[in-house]
Amino acid sequence: MERAPMSEPRLSETDRQWIRWGEQNPYYGVLIGYESSHIEGNQKAKFFETGEGYIAEVISIATTLYPELEPRRGAAIDFGSGVGRLLRPLAARFAAAYGVDISPAMHKIAEENLKEVGQVRLVMSPDEIPPASCAFANSFIVLQHIRRREGMALIRSLLERLEVGGVFALQFLVRDENPIRPALNALRYRFPPLQWAYNLVRGRPVHEPVTEMNVYDQSAVEDLARSLGFASLNALLPTNHGGHHGVTLFGQRVEIPAALGTPAYRGGVGGVRPHTGGDVGPS
Ligand SMILES: C[S@@+](CC[C@H](N)C(=O)[O-])C[C@H]1O[C@@H](n2cnc3c(N)ncnc32)[C@H](O)[C@@H]1O
Repeated sequence: MERAPMSEPRLSETDRQWIRWGEQNPYYGVLIGYESSHIEGNQKAKFFETGEGYIAEVISIATTLYPELEPRRGAAIDFGSGVGRLLRPLAARFAAAYGVDISPAMHKIAEENLKEVGQVRLVMSPDEIPPASCAFANSFIVLQHIRRREGMALIRSLLERLEVGGVFALQFLVRDENPIRPALNALRYRFPPLQWAYNLVRGRPVHEPVTEMNVYDQSAVEDLARSLGFASLNALLPTNHGGHHGVTLFGQRVEIPAALGTPAYRGGVGGVRPHTGGDVGPS
């Protein structure tokens, strides 16, 4: 396993919160119910089983939708890889894997959790991965914690890492069923005393970091993907986490639009025929 030298990225407000999560309560930051900076034995096995289950389902859907996807031959990216819960099963299925995470403390734990797994590289930004070089990009319960403008820029960068034939499976929130919650949350995210009160009411440590829940515009994500040469978009696996509704959007790169770049970027353009069946909305 290789860890890239940590660059000094410009940090957003949510980046700073996630760096604190990594330092203060990394496993709980990933999944409620794992309140510890270290887990082992059965608890650890159960934690990683949840990741194996999700990745098995996602890869099974991806290889059904896009039969050209050959996991064993390519590199996979897990965006927001945390302590390695999804990166480990991805690394087991692909020839190589990148874990992208903004939190150095999460990387440190992931390194420990993946030390038996070969060909894994941990980076802080998708920009550190060569363009058009990867076969698969995954993200689950990450984009929701990033404000939409920054999240859209990260999605663009992530999709640009995929080669022709490459497939993405990105989960993000599309709707909050409580119509007033987004406005109240926006206040809480920007005014720390409200967050401290919120933490106290829930019996959590008063200075526990914020976990923002941000909704994306699905059609804007789809338009962005199409503009980068992706087709056969399918929104599947609907999620409902406490009234926050999400989907996992799948798509395959069929071309690298000429406007996008240099021959190096566009190397290996063979062209993949889009799948029939068209784009499907959330089921
Ligand atoms: C809820 S955890 C999910 C981790 C992992 N996807 C999983 O399901 O096990 C969210 C992760 O996203 C990371 N993250 C948040 N903002 C990020 C950003 N801008 N770039 C990369 N990673 C980010 C956090 O540090 C954290 O590890």
